[in-house]
Amino acid sequence: MQDACAPGIEQDARPTANAPEKRVFIKTFGCQMNVYDSERMADALGAAGFVETGAPEDADLVILNTCHIREKAAEKVFSELGRLRVLREARRQDGGGNLMIAVAGCVAQAEGEEIARRAAVDIIVGPQSYHRLPELIERRASTRGPVIETEFPAAEKFASLPAPKLRAAPSAFLTVQEGCDKFCTFCVVPYTRGAEYSRPVAQIIEEAKRLAERGVREITLLGQNVNAWAGEGPSGKTWTLPDLLAALSEVNGIARLRFTTSHPNDMSDALIAAHRDLPKLMPYLHLPFQSGSDRILKAMNRKHRMEDYLRIVHRLRDARPDLALSTDIIVGFPGETDADFEETMRMVERVHFAQAYSFKYSPRPGTPAADRAAQVPEDVKSERLARLQALLFAQQTAFNAAMVGRTLSVLWESRGRNEGQVVGRSPYLQPVYAEGDPALIGHIADVEIVAASQNSLRAVIKNLDVDAT
Ligand code: SAH
Ligand code: SF4
Ligand code: F3S
Repeated sequence: MQDACAPGIEQDARPTANAPEKRVFIKTFGCQMNVYDSERMADALGAAGFVETGAPEDADLVILNTCHIREKAAEKVFSELGRLRVLREARRQDGGGNLMIAVAGCVAQAEGEEIARRAAVDIIVGPQSYHRLPELIERRASTRGPVIETEFPAAEKFASLPAPKLRAAPSAFLTVQEGCDKFCTFCVVPYTRGAEYSRPVAQIIEEAKRLAERGVREITLLGQNVNAWAGEGPSGKTWTLPDLLAALSEVNGIARLRFTTSHPNDMSDALIAAHRDLPKLMPYLHLPFQSGSDRILKAMNRKHRMEDYLRIVHRLRDARPDLALSTDIIVGFPGETDADFEETMRMVERVHFAQAYSFKYSPRPGTPAADRAAQVPEDVKSERLARLQALLFAQQTAFNAAMVGRTLSVLWESRGRNEGQVVGRSPYLQPVYAEGDPALIGHIADVEIVAASQNSLRAVIKNLDVDAT
């Protein structure tokens, strides 16, 4: 979690009650939505007298905000809980008081009972109940066993959480949509996050304005199916994501907009046109295609074919020729043959990705694909993943190398590891390093790219006359 404050920006007031300060340590696993949620949990607990600490050893309360997407992600929770139990015992023996342990996020939602049975945990809270955390902590004091809260009141959560506090970074996440109705046969998200829910327009705009007032320059709208977002606009007309992006473009101080994650089936004409018409919408889109084989896409219940995806890419690049694409790909889905996998490779060759996330299929309990007979052996999955990743890494390296000699605008986000260095992001989301004054942080400046590697760019700052805000 972020713990430093940008210099020169006013910090939110802490409650000044006489009660001794309590400390919370939050560890976040999984996707950006969990990052956003962890910040909101910290805000909700701040109002109840907690301050954040960066070390579990100092904490009165430790929250693990967990991810259930693949088996490895879910397993991490139990090993982490083992470590925490040792810490709690050691503290008890030293007479150092109690350590309260809470499990939040998608594992809490999916395996709440199992966690309660296997581990000595105080609170188990699903993703839609974070606004109830202060109350759950109080309730725990008067119960014997763990307190479990895994209902799905998404609307109540967003309406009840306090407004976001100041964070250090000039780039912020803003969740606009949560949950999923698509039920891809490999995926736990519809079960852990519940049905699709879109936050109301006014709530989103207000949160964006508040972020902008606090120095945020770039907002990334988040949703498991962010491009399925819909809400009632001010005149009663239904707004979809491009309307929302256009309205957010008008928020003073916001210079850049992004959104993630999109589903190909919700890439509307208007959203494609927004990439042409909205200068603040960055030319980078994360658009998972999962598999290049129509047979496998059907078995995944993706409801799009390879050609549909290629058509969308084509139209997006027509609208915004420099658009960089990233994607998610699964190898070894049940029944995937060598020929199916070759189609996935071919798809990558045809599209050219600036970045990609690729995974071995992981059977998830309760999902339809997990019980299919034709599971692909582990060594075959590993071999396919290695081949795919070699191709993806080569494309990413080539994409970065093509930036050398070009001028890019960079939003400076933080100090680099070396003295005198600043780090920011290009429009294409590449990390960019340069020698520069930390006063640049929070500003956008033009740079010339002088070197590139697989994961980042090195630059010389050309234009010290940074933007006014
Ligand atoms: N809503 C997004 C994805 C959310 S999960 C979408 O529809 O694309 C992020 C990624 O994890 C997915 O895109 C998929 O590639 C991967 N994933 C999900 N379930 C998985 C599983 N059981 N095994 C391996 N990878 C999985
Ligand atoms: Fe999961 Fe599919 Fe929903 Fe994405 S669209 S969250 S992969 S079920
Ligand atoms: Fe993981 Fe839940 Fe996100 S399963 S990927 S934390 S929605």
